[in-house]
Amino acid sequence: RWCGAHANREVLLASPRSACAGVDRAVEIVELALLRFGSPVYVRKQIVHNEHIVADLTKRGAVFVDSVDEVPKGAVVVFSAHGVSPAVRAAAAERDLVTIDATCPLVAKVHSEARGHVRQGRTIAYIGHAGHEESEGTLGEAPDAMHLVETVEDVARLQVDDPHNVAFLTQTTLASDEVEEIVTALRSRYPDAKGPRGEDICYATTNRQQAVRAVAAQSDLVLVVGSRTSSNANRLVEVATRSGAPAVLVEDATELDPALLHNIFRIGLTAAASTPEPLVERVVEALRTLGQVDIDEVRVAREDIVFSLPAALR
Ligand code: F3S
Repeated sequence: RWCGAHANREVLLASPRSACAGVDRAVEIVELALLRFGSPVYVRKQIVHNEHIVADLTKRGAVFVDSVDEVPKGAVVVFSAHGVSPAVRAAAAERDLVTIDATCPLVAKVHSEARGHVRQGRTIAYIGHAGHEESEGTLGEAPDAMHLVETVEDVARLQVDDPHNVAFLTQTTLASDEVEEIVTALRSRYPDAKGPRGEDICYATTNRQQAVRAVAAQSDLVLVVGSRTSSNANRLVEVATRSGAPAVLVEDATELDPALLHNIFRIGLTAAASTPEPLVERVVEALRTLGQVDIDEVRVAREDIVFSLPAALR
């Protein structure tokens, strides 16, 4: 049957892409906890924002819950890569839970920066997205001293006791160009504001955004493989779009609608830091059913970061 989507295509594979060191570590922590303690191992929230990873670990005996209140007293619970607030840790201790912390070390670093600023009596502007688990966990370090800032307009609305004693921090998975605007606004309103060098956006987010920018500039369409709940997946779609290519988020190859591919001959392909690489390979296989595919990898950086496991699992 003739299909308008059938064509020979070039795929520009963005590199780096797919799972980062923090995601690999978090998944390994749940796997090791299952080996060490047996099923069920409870996991508070999605361990990482990827439906496939959650489904796979569920099959292997992980039980995902929204709150530690759902975990039976004394059971094993893993905290997700996005981190948790001190209140969640306290609630887990109250229930005598055995806790294993899969918080990405780069998120933990932002928590510790927050505690440092609070010790200095600073008011903190936290640049992040409302409702995201990472934001909620980090803001929980000092709910009274921290203010969520999502936009440049939010900066104008900030009210602080001492404008000379302000700091800012960011979520790790934001788009760097957007954060820059907000940081510029903050620095112009609070010239003494203390902040991280650059931002707290992590290496994996930065590299994946740079790589998608490089492929978007040369593509008719960019496909981002990732889950809708993934912050960094959504940012990749936005960054690609701002770089001039239409971009679509697909959970996996089954969402690759051939109708998307009419008159599309050069496809930029990437995946979020929470996406397992095999899902990208399956998207390439699906494209091959629609015609010949030539693959060019566009590499903007090399990554060799590996985070060590929590002592309890080593
Ligand atoms: Fe960590 Fe960045 Fe990945 S904060 S979990 S390395 S996206």
